Amino acid sequence: MARQGQLVIDPHSSSRQLPATSVSPCLAEVLRDLLQGDLDFAEASDTSGLHNLHAFPAKYPPALPRLFIEHLTQAGEVVLDPMVGSGTTMVEAALLERKGIGSDVDPLALLLSQAKVDPPDPARAFQSGLGVCNRAYMTLTRNSERLQQELRQRFDEETRGFLSYWFAPQTQLELMALLLEIEAEPDASIRRFLRLCFSGIIVTKSGGVSLAIDLAHTRPHRAKDKVPRSAIEEFARRLRKNVASIEQSERRDGQIAIVYGDARSLPLQDNSIHLVITSPPYAGDAIDYMRAHKFSLVWFGYPVGVLASHRRAYLGSDTLRPAAEEPLPAPVERVITAVGEVDTHKARVLDRYYRDMMLTMREAYRVLQPGRCAIFVVASSRMRGVDTRAGECLGEIAQSVGFRVVGIGTRRIHRDRRMMPVSRHGHSCSGIEQRMHEEYVVGLVK
Ligand SMILES: C[S@@+](CC[C@H](N)C(=O)[O-])C[C@H]1O[C@@H](n2cnc3c(N)ncnc32)[C@H](O)[C@@H]1O
Repeated sequence: MARQGQLVIDPHSSSRQLPATSVSPCLAEVLRDLLQGDLDFAEASDTSGLHNLHAFPAKYPPALPRLFIEHLTQAGEVVLDPMVGSGTTMVEAALLERKGIGSDVDPLALLLSQAKVDPPDPARAFQSGLGVCNRAYMTLTRNSERLQQELRQRFDEETRGFLSYWFAPQTQLELMALLLEIEAEPDASIRRFLRLCFSGIIVTKSGGVSLAIDLAHTRPHRAKDKVPRSAIEEFARRLRKNVASIEQSERRDGQIAIVYGDARSLPLQDNSIHLVITSPPYAGDAIDYMRAHKFSLVWFGYPVGVLASHRRAYLGSDTLRPAAEEPLPAPVERVITAVGEVDTHKARVLDRYYRDMMLTMREAYRVLQPGRCAIFVVASSRMRGVDTRAGECLGEIAQSVGFRVVGIGTRRIHRDRRMMPVSRHGHSCSGIEQRMHEEYVVGLVK
């Protein structure tokens, strides 16, 4: 029986006969072989244009979840990504005709993932988007008082301050004009897609139409001499590019659910999932998704203050809430102690991160069917010069919650092919710079 509020995807239901792919009876061996193979995917090209609709820090290459989904599940089975980010796993699950559940606590991650797994008809989306641009332009030139009024009334004082600091007055008017038209689009799938295009002109490596420089790599700095491009023109450009990406994408009607959910406490039944594949945030406090994402989320109605307190929902970031009580495995404690010898605050942060990962892995174990696999992809980092040994530590934690560790693969990260997470510190010698060459693929069986 499903508990109240639980999400139910029937692992046995299927709307039509799906092509059979073979899952070996001995999944552990298949998994071991996969982990020993090439996990770099240096030459792999993207399987779908949907992956490139919007930038997202530290998304993994689509070929990675694809490899494991293809070999460790059959068509019609349920793949879970409890930290779904930009939806890479879910797009691949749908392409391979698997069912999928993707959850996250980041509102922008949910918007992107939902837009990708339910893309609109490209011709209709293009028509609608062009209409948005034209009408926004008309309002801008003929009725800018209305836009001024919206800007005054819509946002609380703190959020208004944020907008005024980070967006030039003309850009604010243009974005407001676009937003009003997007909100008036009646079709939910088109509206989501247009929101994604809107966000895509703000959350970019270079800070897009905001006054921020380099939103992707460092702490945002306000440019003194940046002359932002016209938001309406940028939106039109982004619309064309994203519509072309959808046109080139194969369409599959996978049964995919994207839901708000904390990976430490999932709204799912025990033993209901056939494969977990996910990549958690990096160890330590170096990543701040919200810092970049709030630049577009404020436009979608999230006040700055609410977003600031929502930060605590992210793994490893809330040092006030009680964490998992039981002791961490000894090798994990040793890493934390080594960090603590240099910096006690950092050691507390790392301790919190690994405790949160313990809760996360316990949840993954609970919802997975016995005999099935879980894959955690994580990069290590340095805290005050000490390696956090994330791959090894996650392996130890996984074992402590009941998983069998089949192997830990290593993959090289291609820095230029990937938008990196935002550093809390913003200097190049921070953990971010030091950790980005390699990541670990922790392969587990329940
Ligand atoms: C490395 S990213 C995942 C990227 C993803 N694999 C992709 O390809 O786009 C980590 C994700 O974990 C999410 N996250 C952080 N804390 C979380 C929590 N408590 N529950 C669920 N998701 C969380 C972040 O919002 C972020 O989207």
